[in-house]
Amino acid sequence: MVSMDDYLLLIPGPTMVSSRVLRAMSRQVDSHLHLEFNTLLKSVIDDLKKLSDSSEVFIIAGSGTLAQEISIANIIEPGDKVLCFTNGFFGGRFPEIVKRHGGKPKVFEAPLGSAIKPEDVRKALREDSFKAITVTHIETSTAVKSPIKEIGEVVAGSGAYYIVDAVCSFGGVEVKTDSWNIDVLCTCSQKCLAAPPGLAIVGLSKGALEYLEKREVPISMFYGDLKGWLPIMRNPLDIKYWATPPINLIYALREALNQIFDEGIEKRFERHRILGEAFRRSMEVLGFKLVAERGYEADTVTALHYPNGIDDVKFRNLVAERSILISPGFGPLRGKTFRVGHMGNISPNDLISVISAIEYSLLKLGFKVELGRGVKEFNESIGNNHFISKLDEKA
Ligand SMILES: Cc1ncc(COP(=O)(O)O)c(C=O)c1O
Repeated sequence: MVSMDDYLLLIPGPTMVSSRVLRAMSRQVDSHLHLEFNTLLKSVIDDLKKLSDSSEVFIIAGSGTLAQEISIANIIEPGDKVLCFTNGFFGGRFPEIVKRHGGKPKVFEAPLGSAIKPEDVRKALREDSFKAITVTHIETSTAVKSPIKEIGEVVAGSGAYYIVDAVCSFGGVEVKTDSWNIDVLCTCSQKCLAAPPGLAIVGLSKGALEYLEKREVPISMFYGDLKGWLPIMRNPLDIKYWATPPINLIYALREALNQIFDEGIEKRFERHRILGEAFRRSMEVLGFKLVAERGYEADTVTALHYPNGIDDVKFRNLVAERSILISPGFGPLRGKTFRVGHMGNISPNDLISVISAIEYSLLKLGFKVELGRGVKEFNESIGNNHFISKLDEKA
């Protein structure tokens, strides 16, 4: 049995975590009612507030899906109309979540590979009024980035709460809650933040926080009731209980954030942008077509159409022979596309390895490939940029 230590994990989340982060979580469990732990929790919440520009941040044991559900459950009351923009699998989950919490979803569906555009939102908001709208920042199933800042300018003043799924972007691509007019930001630990899976993270704007505090209709879930969690998240030092937090995962997140600050958030965004662009260029010279519409490609993940005649499973198994795990396409794109994640601690070295494995796999499947062509394009695209992304020890 091969261990995960022998593999390079390049799926679009979870991402590999540094040994710094692994070491931080492998310590004795503390009490959640102990001041030392709560001091650490406060520092994590303060840093997430700063990074996301949110008025309040909630960290709850769970995953991105829970963050999506908590967002809806806390904003939507029975009968509320919600405009859900979907352009892939993950955005497509919001209408179902809305229904389960008693809301009435109206779905605007963009074709797979397309982004949600501000004009789509403007038009829909002219036709009706809504309690909230949902948009996915980076739709991981198609690797498309929607212009959520510009959409926020359209939503402003409409009276709708703007709920954004930033699961595949937060920590790798700029996203701001209050100053981009986002009301609820949902994300989680295991993607661009490069911490292990297990933490749902929700950021609220000033307006969403006021709504939550005034809300009288109790929400339809107990565990995810942000009003219940609020005293803990607002002031962790005034030790209170709602449910036991995942203490060791919060140690891990603390260290993942330290690593982000060591790198510098702007430099981190730049690393994602330059490496994402270089990877796409390397794939295009090998003959792959991007799923994403031009101009809306994600910096954290790439989805690619196979040329005719490539068997998805055989291809990914050949890549795995080079000890690299990549992902299949999602839903209707399964079998026709594959996805490579390039977020979190991603380095040029990781991407050179996967490009080389992809070239080898194409060759093995009978395609004419000039070995090294994609790697050359990648290196040329990066040029003189260099990154130290795997800061395992403080220099
Ligand atoms: C954009 C997006 N939203 C939501 C989710 C769901 O997150 P999780 O799998 O952590 O529940 C994912 C997972 O990949 C995602 O990429």
